[in-house]
Amino acid sequence: MSGMASDMASPARLASTAFDLDTWAGVRLVQVEQALDRWVTSDVPQGLSHGAPAELVDAMRYAVLDGGKRLRPLLVLAAHEAVCDEDCVTCFAAALRAACAVELIHAYSLVHDDMPCMDNDVLRRGKPTVHVQFGEASALLAGDALQALAFELLTPQDGSVAPTVQANLCGLLARAAGSAGMAGGQAIDLASVGLPLTESQLREMHELKTGALLQASVVMGAHCGAPEPHALRALRAYGAAIGLAFQVVDDILDVTADSTTLGKTAGKDADNNKPTYVSLMGLQASQAYAQRLLAQARLALDDSGLPQTRTRALLALADMVVNRAN
Ligand code: IPE
Ligand code: IPE
Ligand code: MG
Ligand code: MG
Ligand code: MG
Repeated sequence: MSGMASDMASPARLASTAFDLDTWAGVRLVQVEQALDRWVTSDVPQGLSHGAPAELVDAMRYAVLDGGKRLRPLLVLAAHEAVCDEDCVTCFAAALRAACAVELIHAYSLVHDDMPCMDNDVLRRGKPTVHVQFGEASALLAGDALQALAFELLTPQDGSVAPTVQANLCGLLARAAGSAGMAGGQAIDLASVGLPLTESQLREMHELKTGALLQASVVMGAHCGAPEPHALRALRAYGAAIGLAFQVVDDILDVTADSTTLGKTAGKDADNNKPTYVSLMGLQASQAYAQRLLAQARLALDDSGLPQTRTRALLALADMVVNRAN
């Protein structure tokens, strides 16, 4: 985590300078990592007589564990803390499940995104991609199984998450991942190779393929508590701004960063003839646009009515999204 902006002026921004994102995130990253390790397993699920085939679980674990920035889980937990006491045990159980569920959907989307029928990438999170390591059929199935597991995590049978919260979280995640969200955006991405998209077409593609899941992370985190309608609207606006900013910066880093720093192949967008913010408006204008989106995200938090002490993590995560190096 790095890259906090230093030119902050508003009270909310001043609060973020005293806030150490690394310390805040460190504790939560351990909790998320341990939970993912526990939940992505070949243990026989309760009520079933057979466990999962070992090779499929190996591919799922390879796709999920020991890698990635875990931005989406951190957004879930930060949004939850923005609306709810940190020590609220019941809500935290739901938030940790939501955090891991979103990361599983994200991991599945990366596995499929890298396959030869999509972006045809061989490097992800500093390792060979799942289809390179395990074969295409296993990669396809690992993605499928990760998606299903995400919804299994959101529907525990042990009473730890209230049925209404379970249903709400499932609906939010399904909509963000499906044809009007991530999968739809990926379809537009593939259909747009070599085409000169307008700015609004490109924005829609990015909002769907990447923004939807990031915004859902924020909204799901909030829904683990009991958000006020006004705060929820503000958090939605915050999520929309950082969601789009995230993909704008991803487009920028594809051009400006190297493969070792990214853990994935740099320069792939131009090689694959993908329309991106950089190809549409150039590097500098894209960087300026990402900063404008960051300002929008900060404004949304300022307008949320939530205490600044509760939104500091969200504020710092927005800075990280836009000013990151990988
Ligand atoms: C990469 O996402 C794919 C996009 C949505 C642009 P991340 O940059 O969050 O990937 P990890 O999780 O850190 O590997
Ligand atoms: C992918 O966008 C977004 C997903 C839904 C996975 P990209 O294709 O730009 O992501 P990277 O650059 O391969 O991580
Ligand atoms: Mg892609
Ligand atoms: Mg890709
Ligand atoms: Mg990219």
